[in-house]
Amino acid sequence: MIHFPFFFLIFTIFFFTISHSQFSSTFLDSLLQDYAFQSIPHHRPLTGLIYNTTNLPSNLTGTTVAALRLRTGSLRKRGFHNYNEFDIPSGIVVNPYVKRVILVYHNLGKLSEVYYPLPGFVYLSPVVGLLAYNAVNLSGKELPELDLRASEKPIFIRFGKLKSSPEMSSSEMCVFFDLYGGVAFDHVVNGSVCTTVTQGHFGIVVKSSPEPAPAPEHVPEYPFASGGGGGRGGGGGGRRNKGWWVGGSVAGGVLLAALVVVLVLWVRWCRGTKRMEKMRDEADRGVPLAVAAVGRAEVPVAMGTRTKPILENEYVT
Ligand SMILES: *[C@@H]1O[C@H](CO)[C@@H](O)[C@H](O)[C@H]1NC(C)=O
Ligand SMILES: *[C@@H]1O[C@H](CO)[C@@H](O)[C@H](O)[C@H]1NC(C)=O
Ligand SMILES: *[C@@H]1O[C@H](CO)[C@@H](O)[C@H](O)[C@H]1NC(C)=O
Ligand SMILES: *[C@@H]1O[C@H](CO)[C@@H](O)[C@H](O)[C@H]1NC(C)=O
Repeated sequence: MIHFPFFFLIFTIFFFTISHSQFSSTFLDSLLQDYAFQSIPHHRPLTGLIYNTTNLPSNLTGTTVAALRLRTGSLRKRGFHNYNEFDIPSGIVVNPYVKRVILVYHNLGKLSEVYYPLPGFVYLSPVVGLLAYNAVNLSGKELPELDLRASEKPIFIRFGKLKSSPEMSSSEMCVFFDLYGGVAFDHVVNGSVCTTVTQGHFGIVVKSSPEPAPAPEHVPEYPFASGGGGGRGGGGGGRRNKGWWVGGSVAGGVLLAALVVVLVLWVRWCRGTKRMEKMRDEADRGVPLAVAAVGRAEVPVAMGTRTKPILENEYVT
């Protein structure tokens, strides 16, 4: 009886992890934030210098991580050019307001497919990430990301040389993973450049053969696409796929919500059962509940929190 919800829970987590890898990538973000912050000297850290993370554990060999500390005023006024693949323009707004930010850079190298699996596609570039954190506490762990937005021009991600495409017929697409498990596609600019208006993880992919079932033609566009710079091109082939992916994310979200409800109900139910068992055991063992005489009825009393029955007696007399 107890085992059914539990089994369902495990199954759902397993399914969700496979389909989106959201949990493991969130875990990785948090881990890399910690390592990246450790690479910044706590005594007189400089702003505007890229601190390369050198203390990564062996299970993250092949990834590149860096931290860049900037005043938000300077980020907004001047941006930051050539933070590895990222070309950050002026007009960047960070929310909520903090005095300084740390932009953590990820290049997942050969672990790209592990943390950002994309069935039906092949990566031509590594997955790179840009995430914004409050710089106030360099020992901070499990920090939430700040909201980062490009308000004037998009951020460019220049991938340089791509792996040669195994599928000459299909065209390259930029893929964007937001921080909440959402996936979107956009077209590639200038051969190997992607654009974004917010933070997250980015890569360039092509469809692998055999072709997955084609997405329906008239799906709604992704409402918060990374396509700030994509305004020029309108609707490339990649855009149509967005609805499909978003549908998947939404379904995943609904599933997760259902899962949480099931979990909460189950925990409550267990607690209820335990409490009842305890009460029954105590009754069986003859442990008396606190009982006091109020008038003629004997009722259990809560300790000291309620109006004392004595007052009523005084009123009567
Ligand atoms: C980190 O690496 C980048 C590129 O590899 C280099 O330009 C930069 O100087 C390095 N930063 C430090 C602090 O060594
Ligand atoms: C890698 O190892 C570290 C410590 O050895 C551990 O804390 C971490 O969970 C592992 N990371 C990944 C991504 O598996
Ligand atoms: C900084 O973060 C660490 C780890 O989360 C915490 O122990 C410490 O109290 C924080 N310091 C400040 C000044 O908030
Ligand atoms: C695309 O390439 C042209 C010519 O090389 C260059 O002028 C332009 O800035 C590039 N655009 C982007 C977004 O990189």
